[in-house]
Amino acid sequence: MTAIWHPFTQHALMPEQVFIDHAEGAYLYTKDGKRIIDGISSWWVNIHGHNHPKIAAAVQKQSTKLDQLIFAGFTHEPAEKLAAKLVEVTPPNITKVFYSDSGSTSVEVALKMALGYWAHKGKPRRGVVALEHAYHGDTFGTMSVGGRSVFNAPYEAFLFDVHRLPYPHPKREHETVEAFEKLLKEQGDDIAALIVEPLVLGAAGMMMYSAATLRALYDLCRRYGVIFIADEVMTGWGRTGTRWACEQAGVEPDIICSSKGLTSGFLPLAVTLASEEIYQAFYSTDRAKTFFHSSSFTGNPIACAAALAAVELWDEEPVLERIQTIHKQQAAMLPRLQARGDLENVRHLGTIVACDVRTSEQGYLSAVGPRLYRYFIENGVLLRPIGQTVYMLPPYCVTREDLDVIFSTLERALDALRDGELEQAA
Ligand SMILES: Cc1ncc(COP(=O)(O)O)c(C=O)c1O
Repeated sequence: MTAIWHPFTQHALMPEQVFIDHAEGAYLYTKDGKRIIDGISSWWVNIHGHNHPKIAAAVQKQSTKLDQLIFAGFTHEPAEKLAAKLVEVTPPNITKVFYSDSGSTSVEVALKMALGYWAHKGKPRRGVVALEHAYHGDTFGTMSVGGRSVFNAPYEAFLFDVHRLPYPHPKREHETVEAFEKLLKEQGDDIAALIVEPLVLGAAGMMMYSAATLRALYDLCRRYGVIFIADEVMTGWGRTGTRWACEQAGVEPDIICSSKGLTSGFLPLAVTLASEEIYQAFYSTDRAKTFFHSSSFTGNPIACAAALAAVELWDEEPVLERIQTIHKQQAAMLPRLQARGDLENVRHLGTIVACDVRTSEQGYLSAVGPRLYRYFIENGVLLRPIGQTVYMLPPYCVTREDLDVIFSTLERALDALRDGELEQAA
């Protein structure tokens, strides 16, 4: 019996956790030597695969030089170099990098920057706008902007209200834009910011929408002077086919949140990237306008060194070409899923493939998810369905053979589900 309380885990139904001993590239290895293909990059994080030698070397080197440093009044080389590099690879309006340590904290920081901006401008605005079904993290601020769901039901009374736009449902995407425009016409003077997961609502079940809609929402923000926050925690670092999902819509956000792939999974690190305009609202000889946000590990040198190595890999290795190759290989395999009567909404963007199992048991608590999950793990593939949605989101070092194994394992799992062979699983 373990002393660990695992995240997003109902221990009464899942008493055993898979014990991983080590990992390499796209593979996890259990203590007894079983190999598992990491089909979801360990929760969307290890983009370059596990234990990339360049990042490992950078971590090792930095850990003997400077481990941790108070980040108020002090700075250090890995943080400086990383910040300069991030400014280089983001739209020209982005000039400042604020460090924190998880996707959730990067969003908290973004919200505080946006609301603080208006307060310091002397024209406070209170309204935050978010998409239905959004997921931005599990802290109270991020739960507040996230869609209301089983994830946050016990805490609902404690969450602050936001304006909610309908998810841009295919064929009805214009309704989202119209709803936003109506809101801005009525209350534009009080709307501080719009926060979106660009192109894909990840935790909602890889729900995708078009670049045109993203662009239309952005244009409305520009027209009404509303801060546009792009939560690229999942979509960033190439996942949707471009380094940033926003690139596909020609959008230059005022604030970008990034984490997960930033260090390619080596260490926890996040950044909130801000435009000069946002920064200038806090820049003052008045100490009361200081951005009062920190955590002990802000700008941790080893984490920054890992991120710098991971970001530099983009210049040293053909990362975008790899992403395009994976996309093509997945596209060639996609008809295998599209032909199945037990699947619907087969979708594909960048290296993300997702589909929904046709079932009467819809939603996150659908039994279909745990049943398939258990089959996948027993058959050497890590895929972790979200309710009835199955998706793959592999590291960029995945091979065509690995992808074939992932697809065929999914097909066999669906056959077993159809034939009632997975009923025993919770
Ligand atoms: C879009 C988005 N934002 C924020 C988060 C929260 O990130 P973290 O789990 O690192 O706090 C996630 C996590 O999945 C995410 O997908």
